[in-house]
Amino acid sequence: MNDQAPSSARIYNYLLGGTDNHPVDRQAAEAFKARLPTIEAAARANRGFVLRAARAMAEAGVRQFLDIGCGLPVEPSVLGVVREVRPDARVVRVDNDPEVVPAGRGRTDAPTVFGDLRDPAAIMKDPAVTGLIDFGEPVGVITVAVWHFIPEDAASEYAATLRAGLAPGSHLAISHVCADTVPAAAQEAGKAVYARTANPVRPRTQAEIRALFGGFTLLDPGLVPLGDWRPYDGDPYPEQATESLAGVGVRN
Ligand SMILES: C[S@@+](CC[C@H](N)C(=O)[O-])C[C@H]1O[C@@H](n2cnc3c(N)ncnc32)[C@H](O)[C@@H]1O
Repeated sequence: MNDQAPSSARIYNYLLGGTDNHPVDRQAAEAFKARLPTIEAAARANRGFVLRAARAMAEAGVRQFLDIGCGLPVEPSVLGVVREVRPDARVVRVDNDPEVVPAGRGRTDAPTVFGDLRDPAAIMKDPAVTGLIDFGEPVGVITVAVWHFIPEDAASEYAATLRAGLAPGSHLAISHVCADTVPAAAQEAGKAVYARTANPVRPRTQAEIRALFGGFTLLDPGLVPLGDWRPYDGDPYPEQATESLAGVGVRN
């Protein structure tokens, strides 16, 4: 494990109150927090969106899930939430951080696979994925807090490739740091923190984030701040956050 440089997975784990992180991650997170004091609440609001989006997909009838940029394991998990709705649900977790893959091992019903969202076609033909996911049927694809770690202008092309491999009725969840709402100084602080990781960060405008949903119809309430996406009483992550926009679309 590389404990010399911070990683986005470990920084997020720390912000969520987890223990799978090192001093270098905690220092990076605290430096970021000094410039953007709401960052912990934003991380929690993001995790809440993951779980609400996954549950909504299961309630819409989706039985198989691909969680790309899944991060280090955390409870409650996507698998736990979707199985409450559909006991036969299957989840494949995918991440391009080599440390995340072994951390998620040991769960044969929700395996963690190495893969990169910049190459969705490779993910969709990986035998470890196709062994559990039938791409002839709708899939719930969770790409939450990951697109902003893909700085390339080609991100919308990667999203189009992903869409092309999915059956109609598939769902896509995205949350993304929004360049329109995060103050410029905080954006620079975030860029400085993540420049030390393998994942340089790129906030996108609302229009750029919406473009990632090309070929998908956004479900209510549309593309909104994290905490505004279908909040409910008793949510373990009730935090509000304007730093990121979130939405779920259905493939046309
Ligand atoms: C902030 S965490 C989000 C975890 C989880 N999706 C959530 O929202 O609770 C971002 C994760 O995306 C992963 N990641 C970054 N770029 C990626 C890429 N191009 N392909 C796959 N995973 C990526 C990181 O390694 C990290 O584990």
